[in-house]
Amino acid sequence: MLIRELGERDASAYYALRLEGLEREPRAFGSDADSFRGTPLDAVGERLRASDNVFTLGAFDDGRLVGITTFARETGAKTRHKANVFGVYVREDARGRGVANALLGELIRRARQISGVEQLHLAVSVTQTAARRLYDAHGFVVYGVEPRALKVHGEYVDEEWRALRLA
Ligand SMILES: CC(C)(COP(=O)(O)OP(=O)(O)OC[C@H]1O[C@@H](n2cnc3c(N)ncnc32)[C@H](O)[C@@H]1OP(=O)(O)O)[C@@H](O)C(=O)NCCC(=O)NCCS
Repeated sequence: MLIRELGERDASAYYALRLEGLEREPRAFGSDADSFRGTPLDAVGERLRASDNVFTLGAFDDGRLVGITTFARETGAKTRHKANVFGVYVREDARGRGVANALLGELIRRARQISGVEQLHLAVSVTQTAARRLYDAHGFVVYGVEPRALKVHGEYVDEEWRALRLA
């Protein structure tokens, strides 16, 4: 398995996997599939273009993109010490083989190398048992629960807010 940063040339593979995640796991993500479906491929490529504060990692199995996650640093003078982890998703047929572990491990390793980034934050729906265990294993501590954070097909879903101190 290869883990590398995605760029504009990966836009269509990323688009397909991200859309699959939003469609199959609506409780896992704050974004919704219908809105994402309307995003032009150019805009997806733009988001993948290298920048100081944002990067997306992909996991490749035999050349096929099977897992993704995005790092986004806050940009405000008072919030630049924080960064967020978004969009952790592994294709169903690639699960249970350490793909997410490798992706998150690499994201954390890179985050530690960015000067001034002190903590990582994320939100995870309480329905996502595998993801919660993954974040436990990497040391993300729950610091709050947002009741009814999402409303998915008329059902409310609570989200845990978690942080990992890097320093
Ligand atoms: C969560 C997810 C990314 C895990 O991907 P994966 O590649 O299968 O995970 P890994 O094989 O690397 O396993 C990492 C850890 O996750 C946990 N885990 C994975 N699959 C699990 C399962 N079926 N049940 C419980 N815990 C599980 C375990 O703690 C595991 O570590 P361990 O093997 O040392 O016990 C994947 O299940 C997924 O895409 N889920 C839907 C989307 C989602 O919930 N994303 C999170 C958004 S915040």
